[in-house]
Amino acid sequence: MRLSSLRPEHRGQVSELLIATAAFSSEEVEVALELFDATYPSCRPERSEGPAFANDEMADYEFLGAFDVGDQLLGYACFGPTPSTDGTWDLYWLAVHPAAQGRGAGRALVREVEQILVARQGRLLAVETSSRESYAHSREFYARCGYTEAARVRDFYAPADDRIILTTRLMARPVGVATR
Ligand SMILES: CC(C)(COP(=O)(O)OP(=O)(O)OC[C@H]1O[C@@H](n2cnc3c(N)ncnc32)[C@H](O)[C@@H]1OP(=O)(O)O)[C@@H](O)C(=O)NCCC(=O)NCCS
Repeated sequence: MRLSSLRPEHRGQVSELLIATAAFSSEEVEVALELFDATYPSCRPERSEGPAFANDEMADYEFLGAFDVGDQLLGYACFGPTPSTDGTWDLYWLAVHPAAQGRGAGRALVREVEQILVARQGRLLAVETSSRESYAHSREFYARCGYTEAARVRDFYAPADDRIILTTRLMARPVGVATR
């Protein structure tokens, strides 16, 4: 598996992957692709004459991909600095293609994002999730990766659907030490 930044030409694979997971509503897929388009405006013909980034805020999203040997996108993470904080970052999106799930791609992406941010003096990485049963696997995944509940806003998304903020302290991991 190879980890590297996404490029504009990966948009099709990102779209296909998001839909294939069946984990996201069509609105959520749309939002995820909007972030991609704002970060890589050259892949949207109508925006191709604009600046490299739509605006300063959007320049703060970064995309990291996990690829197989044939350069097929297995999964990706989208992250960025949390505005008005000192060293806090958000992991906005994480998705692994169903055909590649359970083989370490998700964990590898999370660990790589963490190490990128450690190198930038990041302190805290935050992820938002929902208390709904359908998100139980996602909560379990993050728990396995060492993320713990830092805050919960009850009934935030809907009655009985809490907003849960999970965080991890960013720290350097010695080279060669298993990232589990
Ligand atoms: C959640 C997701 C990113 C995990 O990626 P993955 O590549 O399958 O996960 P990994 O193989 O790296 O697994 C890492 C750990 O999480 C655990 N895990 C992964 N998926 C899990 C699941 N569905 N239920 C319970 N545990 C799970 C694994 O068992 C492993 O733990 P262990 O090694 O300690 O046993 C992936 O399933 C996915 O994209 N799901 C749909 C989208 C989503 O929910 N994204 C996250 C919220 S935005």
